[in-house]
Amino acid sequence: MSTLEQEARYCAYNYHPLPVVLVKGEGPYVWDDSGKRYLDMMSAYSAVSHGHCHPRLVKALTEQAQRLTIVSRAFHTDILAPFLKMICEMTGQPRALPMNTGAEAVETALKAARKWAYAEKGVAAGKAEIIVCDGNFHGRTISIVSFSSEAQYKHQFGPLTPGFKNIAYGDAAALEAAITENTAAFLVEPIQGEAGIVIPPAGYLTKCAELCKRHNVLLICDEVQSGLGRTGKLLACQHDGVQPDGLILGKALGGGLLPVSLFLAREDVMAVFDPGDHGSTFGGNPLASAVALEAMKVLQDEKLVERSERLGAYMLQRLQAIKSDAILEVRGRGLFIGIELDPQRARARDVCEHLMVKGVLSKETHETVVRMAPPLVITEEQIDETVAALEQVLAVI
Ligand SMILES: Cc1ncc(COP(=O)(O)O)c(C=O)c1O
Repeated sequence: MSTLEQEARYCAYNYHPLPVVLVKGEGPYVWDDSGKRYLDMMSAYSAVSHGHCHPRLVKALTEQAQRLTIVSRAFHTDILAPFLKMICEMTGQPRALPMNTGAEAVETALKAARKWAYAEKGVAAGKAEIIVCDGNFHGRTISIVSFSSEAQYKHQFGPLTPGFKNIAYGDAAALEAAITENTAAFLVEPIQGEAGIVIPPAGYLTKCAELCKRHNVLLICDEVQSGLGRTGKLLACQHDGVQPDGLILGKALGGGLLPVSLFLAREDVMAVFDPGDHGSTFGGNPLASAVALEAMKVLQDEKLVERSERLGAYMLQRLQAIKSDAILEVRGRGLFIGIELDPQRARARDVCEHLMVKGVLSKETHETVVRMAPPLVITEEQIDETVAALEQVLAVI
């Protein structure tokens, strides 16, 4: 059996990958099992911002792996605190709760918001509400898909979790109208990633922050995908000058090597957690902490945030200059770019399959958007190669 046949035989069919078998990665490149090289425009849904197998991160991983890896939080370790100190200082959030995947950190935020509503805000028992946006993507747990506006994500996964209210994304007036005395939090992506790189109107988040403050509602920004330089700022909410009450990080926090996530928050929000309230066997483990600490140092030393801003602007301008009837819009911020195609003229999946043949890997988001979110270490020349490949594909498709 070929690798593809074996995977088709043994793996659950919950993804529809492009037919390529990757065996090696370095920087913005990956190689398949025939030795063919590709530029990675996906970065594992933005988890590989540092590039594949960054030597400093591989070193941090292997050194820590030979010293101490997993002990659980039943004991202290010497590396968790330095990691949390660095990320708290970088983000201006006073405290952090370590988890592993993005969805777990989102669940942590939801629990924190609910308990804060009862313990601090005085919401009546069982009444706490969390406001979320249409088009959101926050992960795949039962509670998280309960408030997805994507029918497939929750179809036949009920009974669903109550206590969420959906409003239109990008509409601050809708937020104001939805807030009640029972509202605990507003959970929002500063730029919606999985919805197709959707950028809200300028000043949206600022207005939301004002409304949340006025009504004593927590503003929780899910920056699992948009955070850590992806959009050309350390955090996407900084484009609007907003400091959220709660912040969710994941993906690139693990340097492309391990799942590492965090819920960070204000003192009074994090103070709701007592020992035994919440936890994770692997959350905050020494191996993850060592890699994440080094990943944050690399982010600073290699000025990856500034790089994302500069090269993102370059890539956006190069993509917007492509003359093709198939493109309806190219939008993005930093190296977080979506190309919206006219479904009458081109399917995003077909474009991705043709790009693959030309040595560029990307993936469709919904039917119509091709995502361009390369590792932040990408160069201008590599961007030029990608744009040239896309131009050729659009000319023949
Ligand atoms: C904004 C956002 N939140 C949460 C998640 C879930 O992260 P994970 O897949 O690590 O659970 C994602 C994943 O794409 C995401 O984009």
